[in-house]
Amino acid sequence: MRFPSDFVWGAATAAFQIEGSTTVDGRSDSIWDAFCRVQGAVRNGDTGDPAADHYRLMAEDVALMASLGLRAYRFSVAWPRIRPDGGATNPRGLDFYDRLVDTLLDNGIDPWLTLYHWDLPQKLEELGGWANRDTAYRFADFTSSVTEHLADRVVHWTTLNEPWCSAFLGYAAGIHAPGRTEPDAATAAVHHLMLAHGLGMQVIRENVPQAVAGITLNLYPVAPVDPADESDVDAARAVDGLQNRVFLDPVFDGRYPDDVLPGLADLVEPGDMELISAPIDYLGVNYYRDYVVSGGGEPRFPSEWIGAEHAAFPPRDLPLTDSGWEVNPDGLTTVLVSLKDRGVPLYVTENGASYEGIDDYDRVAFLDTHLRAAAKAVEQGVDLRGYFCWSLLDNFEWAEGYAKRFGLVHVDFATQTRTPKRSAQWFAKVIDTNEVR
Ligand code: NOJ
Repeated sequence: MRFPSDFVWGAATAAFQIEGSTTVDGRSDSIWDAFCRVQGAVRNGDTGDPAADHYRLMAEDVALMASLGLRAYRFSVAWPRIRPDGGATNPRGLDFYDRLVDTLLDNGIDPWLTLYHWDLPQKLEELGGWANRDTAYRFADFTSSVTEHLADRVVHWTTLNEPWCSAFLGYAAGIHAPGRTEPDAATAAVHHLMLAHGLGMQVIRENVPQAVAGITLNLYPVAPVDPADESDVDAARAVDGLQNRVFLDPVFDGRYPDDVLPGLADLVEPGDMELISAPIDYLGVNYYRDYVVSGGGEPRFPSEWIGAEHAAFPPRDLPLTDSGWEVNPDGLTTVLVSLKDRGVPLYVTENGASYEGIDDYDRVAFLDTHLRAAAKAVEQGVDLRGYFCWSLLDNFEWAEGYAKRFGLVHVDFATQTRTPKRSAQWFAKVIDTNEVR
C-alpha cells in the first residue's frame, strides 16, 4: 500500500518522558516530579530521572533519527524549563530547544513542537492547577516565550497533547499527576485546557505568521456491544461524549455537547468559545485502541468518575499489547473516516504499542497493520497527511514508569545505550519506500 508522495513520516516523544536532567539549568518541578515522589503513585517508584537522558544525548538522538530517515520529529517543550514555577522566562531552558531545533534542521528533519505534554509547573498546581482558570493565561505566557524564540524556525505547532488525560486521569481518576480525584476539578480542567488551547492558538497566530498549528486529541471509536440494546447504545453515547465529543465539539462547533458534563456550561465566559473554536490548520489524532461498551456489568474507570456509571467495557477476543490494550487496527480507519467532514487535514500524531524485546515482531505487526488501516482511510478520501510513531525511544511511561517499552529504539536505562529494534529498521524502510509491502 503506497502513501501520498509528500506524506510526513515521523516519530514522537515528550519532554518529561525522555529528557531527564530535571534539576539543571533552572528547571523547576512539574506536577510529574511531585507525583513521582508520592509513594505508590508510579510503578517501582520510577521518576523522570534519568529517563532516556535525552537532555544530554540530544545530538546523538537526532543522528539516530537521521539514520532512520525520519522526515519529522514531534517533541514537547518543558514548561518548567521555560517558565520555572510558572514565572519569568528562563533563557537557559530555551537554549536546549534552540539547539534541538537547529540540530533537527541541520539534519533535514522538520520540528513539530508540542507546547503542553502534561508537565505543568508544580507551583501552578499549588495555585489550583488546571482547575484554576488562571492557568490558561499562564499557558498563554509560556506560549509567548516559546513562540517569540522559535518563530523563525518552527512551522508546525501543537497547543495540547491529549487534554483528556490531563483532565480525567489527572483530576478525576488520580492515576496521573497531580493525582486528584475530584470530578468537579476535572470538569473545570476540561474547560481551562480548552481555553488554554484557544489562547495558545491566538499567541501562535500573532507571533508565528507562517505557523501550521493545531491540537492533538486521543480519540477512540466507541461502539455499543449490541446496537439493538438501548442501554448499550446509551452507554456508548456517554463514553463517546467524554472521550471524543467533549473535545472535538468545542474546537469545531464552538460549543460543548449537551449530554455530558453539564457543569461545563457554567464555566464558560463571554468570548471563550470563539477563542476555542478559532480555525486550526490540522487535527492531530493519537490512536491506540477502540472501545466496545455495554450498559450493564461492572463499571470501569473512567466511567464511574465522570457520570457514565452504567458503562462497562467487556473484553473482546483480541490480542493485547504489554499494556493490556486490545489491538484493533480497524479502529484507526474508523476514527479517521469519522473526522473526514471536520474539514481539516489530519495527522496521526501518535500510534504504537508497548512490547518487550529488540526483535520486536509484535511491534512490526502492530505498525504494519495500523499503517494499512491508515492507508485504507486515505483510499476512502480522508485527508491524512502524515504519521508519527510513538515512540522514537523507550521512555518513562507515566504511571507505568520504565516498565512499558514503546520505542522503535531500545534504551538500556542503566547505560543509556541505544539499540534500534527490528521495528526501527522496518519503519526506516517504510519511510524510504513510502509504502507498506
Ligand atoms: C499517549 C501519550 O501522549 C504518551 O505520552 C504516552 O506515552 C502514550 N500515549 C502511550 O501511553
